[in-house]
Amino acid sequence: MRFDILTLFPGMFDGVFSESIVGRARDAGQVQIAIHNIRDYALDKHHVTDDAPYGGGGGMVLKPEPILGALETVLDAETIARQKATGQIETPVALLSAAGTPFDHDMARAFERFGQIVLICGRYEGVDERVSELAVTHEVSIGDYVLSGGEIAAMVIVEAVTRLVPGVLGDMRAMVEDSHANGLLEYPHYTRPATFRGLSVPDVLVSGDHARVARWRREQALQRTWERRPDLLEDAELSKADRAFLESLEDQQNAPA
Ligand code: ADE
Repeated sequence: MRFDILTLFPGMFDGVFSESIVGRARDAGQVQIAIHNIRDYALDKHHVTDDAPYGGGGGMVLKPEPILGALETVLDAETIARQKATGQIETPVALLSAAGTPFDHDMARAFERFGQIVLICGRYEGVDERVSELAVTHEVSIGDYVLSGGEIAAMVIVEAVTRLVPGVLGDMRAMVEDSHANGLLEYPHYTRPATFRGLSVPDVLVSGDHARVARWRREQALQRTWERRPDLLEDAELSKADRAFLESLEDQQNAPA
């Protein structure tokens, strides 16, 4: 999997991409990450990358020429134009923006399947809209809050996508059971000691009964999702037993005290 990141702040990525799972995946050659400094593609001698907005108002807007210049060193101009014209995406060109479509696990999976993705980090008030008109295939937000730029959002996407690259997570079971991977939030985890500050591990987990453990974990995942993110239950794959369990939660809630 290859990531090309266009940014005005390349130094922000150093630590994040050299540690932990992403760092290991890079060392193992499972992912490649190239950081491109947009400033290197500014046309004037002072390397100016922003300018005042047409129509007035506060803040500055990122100029289109340096971004397209940087992008065309990563993807050829014909590919950029063709995928905009046909809608047949060969390599996603994603602009990170608070105004984008919310990023989620399905989008991470879709990006992973392309094998390469370009991430453009916006800054200041925004990016000249012609960058989107000419080149951007996905405008992506990582949540309903405003960051100072797209860099941290790009890191989030790189990490979430890298985890889905085959072989990156040694234990495939961990990936399958992650929160969201199966449409539900994850069940709670416990490790030694069996009792910590008066709190004991649930008996079922030390029972040695694998079927009971599996059922307990499934019910915990269902209950957490029902409590915290009921919207996810609409699309989750639920068995008859799952539905019966959720109904029992509803009944408990509706029972008179
Ligand atoms: N840039 C600023 N805020 C952002 C957000 N929430 N997601 C992605 N990029 C951003």
